[in-house]
Amino acid sequence: MDSGTLVRELSDFLRIPSVSTLPAHDADCRRAAEWVAGALRRLGCREVEFLASDVHPVVWGVGPDVPGAPTLLIYGHYDVQPPDPLAEWITAPFEPTVRDGRLFARGAADDKGQVFCLLKAIEGAARPPVNFRFLIEGEEEFGSRVLFDLLRREPQRTRADAVLIADMAYVAPKWPAVYTALRGLCYAEITVRTAKSDLHSGEYGGAAPNAHEELLRLLGRLKGPDGKINVPGLYAAVKRPSREELAAWRKLPFREAAFLKDRVRAKALTGLRRYSVLERLWALPTFEIHGIKGGFTGEGAKTVIPAEATAKVSLRLVPNQRLKTVERQLAAAVKRLAPKYVSPTVTFLHGADPAQVKVTHPAFRLLDQAFREVVGRGTVPVRAGGSIPVVPALGQSGAPVILTGIGLPDDRLHAPNEKLDLNQLEDGIRVFGRFYELLGETKASRKDVEKRR
Ligand code: BES
Ligand code: MN
Ligand code: MN
Repeated sequence: MDSGTLVRELSDFLRIPSVSTLPAHDADCRRAAEWVAGALRRLGCREVEFLASDVHPVVWGVGPDVPGAPTLLIYGHYDVQPPDPLAEWITAPFEPTVRDGRLFARGAADDKGQVFCLLKAIEGAARPPVNFRFLIEGEEEFGSRVLFDLLRREPQRTRADAVLIADMAYVAPKWPAVYTALRGLCYAEITVRTAKSDLHSGEYGGAAPNAHEELLRLLGRLKGPDGKINVPGLYAAVKRPSREELAAWRKLPFREAAFLKDRVRAKALTGLRRYSVLERLWALPTFEIHGIKGGFTGEGAKTVIPAEATAKVSLRLVPNQRLKTVERQLAAAVKRLAPKYVSPTVTFLHGADPAQVKVTHPAFRLLDQAFREVVGRGTVPVRAGGSIPVVPALGQSGAPVILTGIGLPDDRLHAPNEKLDLNQLEDGIRVFGRFYELLGETKASRKDVEKRR
């Protein structure tokens, strides 16, 4: 298929502003689900269903039955992150535009472009002998609650010989990756109330507590300037990468100076200096403040002492930390670090356990071979700093979960001017097409054949 047609088809998907965290976009999420359903029907799926939610339905598809062939479950998400700050986009986030061989749009790399790639590869490979199952959700950026509930009720949906997820990037241009771990996430709102209501800062200033001041002090205590997180017990469960893994990371095409200059584009890197940057990004927990609200932020000046302030924060978790434990630890730390006269509350919005994947199953060798044949280099095992909440649940049936992707490190996920390189897309279609062919040459596991009888 020529590049023009690919861009046109993918652009139809990207134009739908399916932002799952904003209720104003509920109808758009539904339209994106319908786009996916249409694509699955065109691929010949005999069963296409919307499951578990009317607002952000999980799209389930069952491809043509190929007796004796292996079953591959493809997971992806059609929802995207909010596009703001809008002023920083060179072209509008939901008007896909090609510049210099790159397609710019919210969702181009995360994850619509990659879902599109996995589906196009089936067409390209001329119906490979694989029993395809599709699980394309619409709440990944929102914690995947709907899909979690569905998989708890119907775990048999994940029964497959392998699970394939393309929602990440090469580790560097020309270096395809396979992921051995994802970080987890604990997202919370911390609210501090210091008085019954706001107060005149002249009448009361100097004697009354200020909610913003107390919140900032609390946040400053939660993480010190050295990058250490002051949540008692937080580091206890952290498993250090093995010596072999650390040695392998040192051989990756990753340079701290280039990372600072070209990707972070700041003046310095921060965090725990005793650890390499990759260890800080992939193998250590984090604490980030996403935003602070409350008090007066409107135009002009208002002299007020705010009575309430709220911070949105999150921690990233690493193997072997547990979300439930970290939630308890954070709530206890906030209580302990706040002075007695402020009443802090912690509300948990969503989260995910970290995931670890052994990449020894034979299916990983097939992906490695497909990349080797198409792009000239096999997959290098790395970890991801980001999270995909349902990954541990997708592996519950024992099938290997293959985490890979066609993005590049500079795709600017969640940020203005997100893009996907079109040659990555075209290579990706060939890579996954080849992977399906190779997988089709293997046999289904006996368990799965029996189940389908
Ligand atoms: N595709 C990303 C996850 C990702 C990003 C993996 C970078 C590897 C490298 C995914 O869509 C994502 O953004 N997940 C959220 C999950 C959260 C909202 C529960 C994340 O990591 O913030
Ligand atoms: Mn994603
Ligand atoms: Mn994302």
